Amino acid sequence: MSNILITGANGQLGNCLRDLAHNDDRHVFFYTDVDELDITSIEQVEDYVSKHHIDVIINAAGYTAVDKAESDSERCFLINRDATRNLALVTKRHDIFLVHISTDYVFDGNSDIPYKPSDPVNPQSVYGRSKVEGEKAVFETGCRAVIIRTSWLYSEYGNNFVKTMLRLGRGHDEIRVVDDQKGGPTYAGDLAELILTIVERRDFIQDCRIYHYANQGAISWNEFAHQIMRNASLSCKVLPVSTAEYGAAAPRPASSVFDLTSVTQDFSIQIPNWKDSLQKCMQRLDNQ
Ligand SMILES: NC(=O)c1ccc[n+]([C@@H]2O[C@H](COP(=O)([O-])OP(=O)(O)OC[C@H]3O[C@@H](n4cnc5c(N)ncnc54)[C@H](OP(=O)(O)O)[C@@H]3O)[C@@H](O)[C@H]2O)c1
Repeated sequence: MSNILITGANGQLGNCLRDLAHNDDRHVFFYTDVDELDITSIEQVEDYVSKHHIDVIINAAGYTAVDKAESDSERCFLINRDATRNLALVTKRHDIFLVHISTDYVFDGNSDIPYKPSDPVNPQSVYGRSKVEGEKAVFETGCRAVIIRTSWLYSEYGNNFVKTMLRLGRGHDEIRVVDDQKGGPTYAGDLAELILTIVERRDFIQDCRIYHYANQGAISWNEFAHQIMRNASLSCKVLPVSTAEYGAAAPRPASSVFDLTSVTQDFSIQIPNWKDSLQKCMQRLDNQ
């Protein structure tokens, strides 16, 4: 039985972790978001971990507003770099285990070959740079940790692409969605399952490692939107638009497909296909 702290528990991933942990009586889970535990304060992190005898920290907290970060870099770095360092330092001090989440936006996206965890990073946005710095901070402390880079996260919670497409699809006859960025959608419920598997098997990890995780299959945002409309039986047309025409504030990688070999082998898992996971999430949304 371990005491597991989940930070950012009101976010997408945090809520999916809650749903899974609810049926898991092997451990005691401590759910916190910024009101209960502000991870930008190392004193708060230290006190919480000491008081509750925490064995594992799962960091589901983050600054995730990619476009806003371009004009709000101080706050973005405070949460994604400095607060991550706080968690890593306390992990090291108490000789416990950290699971931290990073992103495909650490890559420039100029390669068509799926990215391995060991490939060089080259972030193009403030958010991407802040996440690279967060990864470095974890490595520098020398704590026992797994960093999972994931991409295009969606769920039945919070704001995400799937929920935005459903809203737009119900209110418009046609929409334009970017068709020149390729990546891997990831259902946060699947990522939550992987995290709990890693926590269970953490004994073999004595250092800090990076894994890549997304659902199987690489697609464009445009294809993703088509499938969402199809699943919801919406007649809204999904037209293509280029990244340049769309003109988001933050640059995004053109291709950020992950090589999933190491996570699949090290944890003996089968990763669900993106279409199956999308359907699962949309069914859960219908039942809410
Ligand atoms: N979303 C994606 O597409 C995506 C893709 C790749 C990787 N990731 C990574 O995956 C992780 C989880 O993402 P998500 O989409 O689940 O995020 P999310 O829904 O934005 O949730 C993040 C949570 O962290 C909280 N938080 C912010 N600052 C905090 C602080 N100082 N102390 C404690 N909690 C704080 C947020 O609260 P407020 O809402 O009040 O700020 C929010 O509840 C993040 O590390 C993210 O970078 C996400």
